[in-house]
Amino acid sequence: MLNTKPLCPAFGLEASGVDVSGALSDAAFDEIARTFFAAQILVLRDQRLTPQQYLAFARRFGPPEPHVIDQFHHPEEANILILSNRRKDGQPIGLADAGTYFHTDYSYLQVPARATMLYSIEVPKAGGNTLFANQYAAYDDLPDAMKRRIAPLIAVHHYGNRKVADEMSRVAASPLTDEQKAKMPLITHPLVRAHPVTGRKALYAVSGSSYGIVGMPEEEAVALLDELAAHATQPKYVLSYAYRVGDVVIWDNASLLHSATLTDPDDPRTLWRITIKEPSSKLDALEVLAPTFAAQAM
Ligand SMILES: [Fe+2]
Repeated sequence: MLNTKPLCPAFGLEASGVDVSGALSDAAFDEIARTFFAAQILVLRDQRLTPQQYLAFARRFGPPEPHVIDQFHHPEEANILILSNRRKDGQPIGLADAGTYFHTDYSYLQVPARATMLYSIEVPKAGGNTLFANQYAAYDDLPDAMKRRIAPLIAVHHYGNRKVADEMSRVAASPLTDEQKAKMPLITHPLVRAHPVTGRKALYAVSGSSYGIVGMPEEEAVALLDELAAHATQPKYVLSYAYRVGDVVIWDNASLLHSATLTDPDDPRTLWRITIKEPSSKLDALEVLAPTFAAQAM
């Protein structure tokens, strides 16, 4: 049995005494996956992983997808994106700005991210937390009239942040090249999305990449998205996670929004990120795992 304790009363678990560096049996991995989907965030403490070991573990969740920003891929494993504010010979060694606004990963792609994993290599003396907002709870708490209103709506997504109009400022850390932009056609997702594994409904990407709603005038659509984003990111839905060296943090992009927080550029921190796409096959074995958090974790 995984030894776990809650990160907060509503969601998120940390597990100790588990080592994911070696070959995990199917039963051992299934328990990790089941716990993860129940908890929405799973932190595995005290890991010591090579890039190859980290990637092998990540692949158990689904296919990794390298980030469109390819300047900071790990030299040994392109599926690992280096997040860091360190510089070497005057050049940044990693992506320093990982999205300091609420969003969910790859919602600007047709097949979005199932899970994002961060392996903590060095932590700053202060700051650098990731904020997570529970979109199951945000949906559940909506008035019935709002649930009926948004049930049929389809949101339009593209790379960036709706709240920042100026493209150069929203991607100031790493502006996209024309070639990178060409890979980014307009994408749509339901505003209320049934989780592909648990089946539970959640608000999906109401902050971040959602720029409009199919068939709705832009002003009305943006007002509705802004109203939902303000609701969905209230402090009562948010958990703030502070990393320790050796943490592997896995989060569920289909049921959470997340936001990086700023760190002091002179206070080094480095994380390795792997992003796992949602397997598109309905035969994915993980789909049979649908525990409830209350029954599983507390
Ligand atoms: Fe992100």
